[in-house]
Amino acid sequence: MDTLQKIPAHVAIIMDGNGRWALERGLPRLSGHKAGTENLREVIEACAEFGIKYLTIYAFSTENWNRPDEEIQGLMRIFRTMLDRELNNLHKNGVQLRHIGQLDGIDKKLQQKVQEAIKLTQGNQTLILNVAFNYGGRDEILQAVKKIVANGENIDDLDDELFSKYLFTAGSPDPDLIIRTSGEFRISNFLIWQGAYAEWYFTPTFWPDFNKEELYQALVAYNERDRRYGKVNQAKGK
Ligand code: IPE
Ligand code: IPE
Ligand code: MG
Repeated sequence: MDTLQKIPAHVAIIMDGNGRWALERGLPRLSGHKAGTENLREVIEACAEFGIKYLTIYAFSTENWNRPDEEIQGLMRIFRTMLDRELNNLHKNGVQLRHIGQLDGIDKKLQQKVQEAIKLTQGNQTLILNVAFNYGGRDEILQAVKKIVANGENIDDLDDELFSKYLFTAGSPDPDLIIRTSGEFRISNFLIWQGAYAEWYFTPTFWPDFNKEELYQALVAYNERDRRYGKVNQAKGK
């Protein structure tokens, strides 16, 4: 893997395709979800190696509550097991765990584990890992508006910067690169405010097969992008 010139500060991933990965193998969907946690360690460690400072992963959306109960309960169980299994390793590697979304409404035991993990890792600085769990971009914006009103903010003070402070992602810069696996080309309610100027990378690979090499390919593609933010690139004259 050659050295890359530009490393995005913040990468966000829509980890999609677990169900189809399982289906292809004649396995139940939950096997796909389980497999989709087993590659996470490699991807997180690769992010740290590449020098990425913030990684946000979409694990469970506000819309995922509409799945069959059995799948939801299975997912909760898998996340809990994963936290138990990975927490020490994450902590050892200097990963700071944060949660984005609403913790209320999820399994009490899982809530408690997430809170303990956040507390344990709060001083770590190598990589900030935002886990989007019970997360929805519209819900996040609505919650922000409610908090802004409740705090009696002066409407004249409201700008992008102040608004961003009310989002679940307060303290993280906007994502530079958003990756979606499994060949779907949609945002599915993910970081709809923060992703305004993100570069997108799509791969047909199902999430359980996504690895360090795939991440590298996404970073190579990112390096070829010309981020103009609505301006004209003077050097290229276009
Ligand atoms: C992503 O995989 C994981 C979650 C949404 C929790 P899917 O479960 O959406 O997999 P597909 O899209 O059905 O293949
Ligand atoms: C988005 O994937 C949510 C997560 C990856 C957690 P979905 O599979 O739920 O999204 P849709 O339904 O295809 O838009
Ligand atoms: Mg999906």
